[in-house]
Amino acid sequence: MQKVKRNILLNPGPATTTDTVKFAQIVPDICPREKDFGEIMRFVSSELTSFVADTEQYTTVLFGGSGTAAVESILSSVMNDGVIVIINNGAYGKRMCEIADAYGLDWVEYGSPMDQPIQLDHLQAFIQKLPRPASYLAVVHNETTTGLVNDIESIGSLCKANNMTMMVDAMSSFAAIPIDMSKMNISYVAASSNKNLQGMAGISFVIAKKEELEKERTTKPTNYYLNLSAQYKHFKETGQMRFTPPVQTMYALQQAIIELKEEGVKERYERYSQSWDTLIAGIKKLGLTHLVAPEHHSKIVTAIVEPDCKAYNFESMHDYFYTNGITIYPGKHANLNSFRVANIGDLTKNDIELFLALLEKYLQQIGFHSAN
Ligand SMILES: Cc1ncc(COP(=O)(O)O)c(C=O)c1O
Repeated sequence: MQKVKRNILLNPGPATTTDTVKFAQIVPDICPREKDFGEIMRFVSSELTSFVADTEQYTTVLFGGSGTAAVESILSSVMNDGVIVIINNGAYGKRMCEIADAYGLDWVEYGSPMDQPIQLDHLQAFIQKLPRPASYLAVVHNETTTGLVNDIESIGSLCKANNMTMMVDAMSSFAAIPIDMSKMNISYVAASSNKNLQGMAGISFVIAKKEELEKERTTKPTNYYLNLSAQYKHFKETGQMRFTPPVQTMYALQQAIIELKEEGVKERYERYSQSWDTLIAGIKKLGLTHLVAPEHHSKIVTAIVEPDCKAYNFESMHDYFYTNGITIYPGKHANLNSFRVANIGDLTKNDIELFLALLEKYLQQIGFHSAN
């Protein structure tokens, strides 16, 4: 097999992929309405479900689209009556608020600091004080803005106690940080093909309880392409997506799933954690800090505080790394003064060591002297 030039992507997805995943896209042309292609999608759907739930009760609904499509599909398809509480402690929680607003949902925002864990007793009091009954709650698992991991198990218990349906944006945690939908009381999970799954960008999916998807809705749908139950029913009946799927991306995802099963989710997270430990020890040595404390950190994406130095400029640092085959990412929030480094994808701690060696040179070049 020919080798493809390897770039080290330290942006939080699309992640660095193996050559076997890249080449899995080179297949004979096929009409996606053929049974053979349906088999690929059934494999993908069933295996994705089995990473987080039992396939008898839960299923995965696939869409062609980026991750936001799955989040939007849940928010725009599921609500029937009652308020949705949306937890906002970063850019992706904020995005869910924007989606809720665009669809005119009955929603309330629960704001929480971006670098601190959610105070559950405060959240409980907030829910109880709402003037209208809250029936749903949406939360991001790993807030990619900072790397803060929200305690979805405890939030799930809180939802159970309050009789609320819980939806989780697990875009940047799925396939690395363990999730057990049944144990955690999660009704809907949104994720995509191109982060910890190490597949190509273009497939977005929702994992949900079949029973929920089969419920007849009493209200008129406000969406069309993203209609979750229509997509579920069509696939169940025909083995096809309602509209043209990203065919070659599906083959790549099939291969990525095979590789994840070979590695194991737990082992993948251990590999990521090793890279993260290397990163954190390395930046500390260089006199840099990061925003979220280790005990609340996902160990997947890190918001590093920008060096306090006149000559520092994110764009020039980005370009310096980029010409050396490494891609880093800007901060997501204007007030945070951070840049981001993700340690996901087909990378090891050796790649992080290379990043750190280059970072050291860059900091020397700009005359950064740590306060340590
Ligand atoms: C937590 C989270 N939600 C949603 C998204 C949106 O995904 P996409 O850019 O694929 O639409 C991202 C992307 O980084 C994310 O990290």
